[in-house]
Amino acid sequence: MVTIDPKLCIGCGVCVKDCPGHVIHIKEGKAEVASHCIKCGHCVAVCPVKAVSIPEYDMEDVEEFVPETFRLSPENYLHAVKFRRSIRDFKEQPLEKEILEHILNAGRYTATAKNAQACTFVVVQDGLDEFKKLFWEEMPSILEVLKEKARRYVRPFTFFYEMWKQDPKNDTFFFNTPCLVVIAAENTLDAGLAAANMENQAVAEGAGILYSGYLVGSISASPKLREWLGTGDKPIACCMLAGYPAVSYKRTAPRKKADIIWK
Ligand SMILES: Cc1cc2nc3c(=O)[nH]c(=O)nc-3n(C[C@H](O)[C@H](O)[C@H](O)COP(=O)(O)O)c2cc1C
Repeated sequence: MVTIDPKLCIGCGVCVKDCPGHVIHIKEGKAEVASHCIKCGHCVAVCPVKAVSIPEYDMEDVEEFVPETFRLSPENYLHAVKFRRSIRDFKEQPLEKEILEHILNAGRYTATAKNAQACTFVVVQDGLDEFKKLFWEEMPSILEVLKEKARRYVRPFTFFYEMWKQDPKNDTFFFNTPCLVVIAAENTLDAGLAAANMENQAVAEGAGILYSGYLVGSISASPKLREWLGTGDKPIACCMLAGYPAVSYKRTAPRKKADIIWK
């Protein structure tokens, strides 16, 4: 439940105006919460006197906005979006714990429908060799499942499997990544938005990402892999290979003209 400290509240009504659920009102000059809400935290973020808290969250996490300390220019932002590339060749160096935490925070702070915050993030770095071993052991059963459920994957995956059997360096699923990040979520848009912010954060840290639809398809088809990951019944929504790029791009990649309808 949202808590408003009446000793601090000045009754300005800013939280009332900004509350998307319209559950706050002013009573006898003080803001009061009338019912349960989605706990989006707008009231905490907008209050001019820090009178609002949501005790079920870690309120120590809340940071003050200091405009002078940070400004991301529109030019820099678009530059980052344009120069981001999918990475399929990684340095051997693992990602430091602190960098991974930054990347995960970018996912955690991303918008979710109804503020569900229900994505589960699995980071497989120390256990990657064990997971990859199980993955390849599982490939024959994965192919059997795909024959029934997603035939279009069978031919390419069989080919990738054969290539890997010839030489494990030919790995179209994991390439040479030091780290796999899996997002499990009922809402795939929530997971996709989190993933995009995580990728941008990774790039800001000097690292890079590859989204792997192939891994989503394979892991989804293997109860053993899902059990290993510990994601329960939540669908595998996104898989990302993460690490420091071993390739550097000299310019942007061309794109189709935007398909935009102006009205
Ligand atoms: C949802 C999604 C799934 C993808 N799955 C794979 C994949 O399984 N294997 C792969 O090599 N690339 C995969 N990609 C990368 C795309 O091929 C890549 O984004 C596209 O070619 C554009 O290149 P860029 O990301 O460098 O701009 C995926 C991208 C997205 C957004």
